Amino acid sequence: MIKVGGSLGADMSRACADIRALVDRGDSVVVVHGGGAEADRLADELGRPRRYLTAPGGRRSRYTDAAALDVLVLGMLGRLKPPLVTELLRLGVRAVGLSGADGGMVTARRTPPANVVVDGVRRVVRDDLSGRISAVDAHLPRTLLAAGYVPVISPPAYDPESEAGSGGSGLLNVDADRFAAHLAVALEADWLIILSNVPGLLRDAGDPASLVAEIPCEDLAEYLDLAGGRMKVKLRTAGEACLAGVPHVVLGDGRGPSPVLAARAGAGTTLVKGAR
Ligand SMILES: Nc1ncnc2c1ncn2[C@@H]1O[C@H](COP(=O)(O)OP(=O)(O)OP(=O)(O)O)[C@@H](O)[C@H]1O
Ligand SMILES: [Mg+2]
Repeated sequence: MIKVGGSLGADMSRACADIRALVDRGDSVVVVHGGGAEADRLADELGRPRRYLTAPGGRRSRYTDAAALDVLVLGMLGRLKPPLVTELLRLGVRAVGLSGADGGMVTARRTPPANVVVDGVRRVVRDDLSGRISAVDAHLPRTLLAAGYVPVISPPAYDPESEAGSGGSGLLNVDADRFAAHLAVALEADWLIILSNVPGLLRDAGDPASLVAEIPCEDLAEYLDLAGGRMKVKLRTAGEACLAGVPHVVLGDGRGPSPVLAARAGAGTTLVKGAR
């Protein structure tokens, strides 16, 4: 399972040649991508506001009302996925682009209304279309893998409790790292490689040389304070996947020439279980 971060932009395609090499070796590969940065760009292009909400615990996340979810879906499925799929096709990889909703693959439950801060004002937000993943059905990706395809999957997820005929999309925004981790666990993946625009977890976010090379996932809490907002979610997710039994979990740098093979060879931050 290879997750390419939306933060990588055009660099997302750097992983493609590696994917070809892995497929040639006979490995089954699933690609998950994020797209937060593209959604922000698209919102600006369309003149749509982008808003964030801050939860009581201080966690900041995207405020995904129906209009923002539209932009997110357009960005992820309309802008980011097609060039990723066609790049893989050009390399001879039989890539298939999917969202979490396809085949009922990734199901989420809507986050309940919360008392949060939006634009400096505390209020209860009821129209946020974000959710937590509640179930994963790996039948579709397994079927595709068995037939020699490489699924290229991204959020959003499917909300089975969305009202039929309400005009809504029936989709929910979910975190792309979580999405990849849940799929990795459901598919019993040997590797979960999360590529982003940093070398891995850094002790000092401004210093690429301060990389933490290895983290025992039982001791994750000690490392969470090192990470700022978005990296914290990533690290927590990686820890959960490691504890859930994914044997190799790596937070790697997606910007180099051979990012997947480098991560497999030990570059980046590796999470290990039972090291103590
Ligand atoms: N201690 C840290 N070490 C490394 N990165 C950190 C740290 N603290 C905060 N960060 C930030 O976390 C960011 C990576 O998370 P981000 O969600 O932006 O990327 P992504 O997950 O690749 O993209 P997407 O969510 O769109 O898929 C880095 O760009 C960096 O700025
Ligand atoms: Mg992220």
